[in-house]
Amino acid sequence: MNIRPPTECPAWNALAAQAHAWRDNALKSALESDPTRAQGLVATAPGLRLDYSRQRLDAAVIGQLAELAAARDLPAWRTALLSGEAVNDTEGRAAWHTALRAGAAAPAEVRAALLRMRGLATRLREGSWRGATGRAIDRIVHLGTGGSDLGPRLVVDALAEAATPKLRVGFAANVDPLDLERALREADPQTTLFVVVSKTFTTQETIENARAAKAWLARSLPAGAGLEPHFVAVSANADAARAFGALEVLPMWDWVGGRYSVWSTVGFSAMAAIGESAFDEFLAGAGDIDAHFAAAPLERNVPALLGLIGVWNVNFLGAATQAVLPYATPLRLLPAYLQQLEMESNGKRVDRAGRVIDYATAPVVWGAEGTVGQHSFHQLLHQGTQVVPADFIVFDDAPGDPARRAILAAHAEAQAEALARGQDDAALPPYRRIPGSRPSSTLHFERLDARNLGRLIALYEHKVFTQGVIWNIDSFDQWGVELGKQLAKALLETAAQTSRRSHPPGAGSPRP
Ligand code: F6P
Repeated sequence: MNIRPPTECPAWNALAAQAHAWRDNALKSALESDPTRAQGLVATAPGLRLDYSRQRLDAAVIGQLAELAAARDLPAWRTALLSGEAVNDTEGRAAWHTALRAGAAAPAEVRAALLRMRGLATRLREGSWRGATGRAIDRIVHLGTGGSDLGPRLVVDALAEAATPKLRVGFAANVDPLDLERALREADPQTTLFVVVSKTFTTQETIENARAAKAWLARSLPAGAGLEPHFVAVSANADAARAFGALEVLPMWDWVGGRYSVWSTVGFSAMAAIGESAFDEFLAGAGDIDAHFAAAPLERNVPALLGLIGVWNVNFLGAATQAVLPYATPLRLLPAYLQQLEMESNGKRVDRAGRVIDYATAPVVWGAEGTVGQHSFHQLLHQGTQVVPADFIVFDDAPGDPARRAILAAHAEAQAEALARGQDDAALPPYRRIPGSRPSSTLHFERLDARNLGRLIALYEHKVFTQGVIWNIDSFDQWGVELGKQLAKALLETAAQTSRRSHPPGAGSPRP
């Protein structure tokens, strides 16, 4: 497979040669001169439509980007990803998250784990899971961080309300004691279950929160009550999870990356919150996109297009950031989810051959739900000195007052139009002029449900993979986060030594 720098591809140079034509006002002119543009620059996948007619490009650019993808061996890399080959080469592992949503074709161990999850989730939802004092569990507090937190948190926030859960599901990710304290406000120790999720079971923040949870239970439950019924652990490090003391230890696998793991047992709290069949739909939605990604030609392949358009914006038009604007309150956590997915995957500076690279990789991903963000940072999107490509995510059909729904939809469309067309009337004072030609894509979904949420997340996963292939980087490791962990550990050890020296055991309290 091609692991030469992408800058050596003729298509890269051809794209660079076209880029100057798309700077400044070209998008505005293209929209004005071609009223059919919005019909041509679209692609569909199951349940969704991508409109990229407001990007700074045309069919010729898309053709060149597809050529670049072919020259980078995207089809062969895609086959390697989907068939579970070790595409994560610095860790010598597969990144086989697609196997988790392969239904009957999933590996036996995955099907067995899903079955176990379902059984446990059913017991929780039916109220037949009893805590140490015999009372039914009615609250889950999910303890995890990064990929062991953001996915389940997003799914619960997006879908649990619609599923009218019988269980309350809360989260604590930060080692700041206040995070767990807040999650435990109003919680009854007799009816609270902690789901401790850590692939490695060594992440300090999660383990400390799990210990604090144990201490909270021990303080409140009758002396001698076993705490195990109040814990489920999810980990690839089964021995450590078992040693911690949990009634159930669900398996994770080293071939699933943390930020790609919401489909696995890591999603247990989400399954319990939204229900087993909604979780099945969530997996099926991702499966729909896997099938589309595997088969659709690159020019009509929605996740590949998202990735390639991102490459165009970053490497040829100089974008340093990417905004994500879901026009749906239930997706308010999507920007945080995508930050980890995109920035931990593709925030890399060395290529697959170990060379320091001299072209840009992942942009900074940020955003907020519309319309809220309009009254915060959209000013910069419209008139700032940086051009920020934006992804609008909209839903045709959603519950609630149709009149306010119509207002929401109108605002999303108006923002994309204002960005693209601007208002540069010479009669206006300069401070009122909006330059336009600011790029965006709009992803249209029929409705926000479990299936479409699965589709949306899988779409971005394959977008990230596509970009990793173009940029010649390993999207599945995260070595950059290790140094900080080591330094924090060393600081804590030094502090503990200093404290031991100034208060040796048996020395009693220092005199005032
Ligand atoms: O520190 C980064 C990271 O390793 C993420 O990649 C991961 O999702 C998160 O920490 C949590 O890791 P674990 O599930 O092992 O606790």
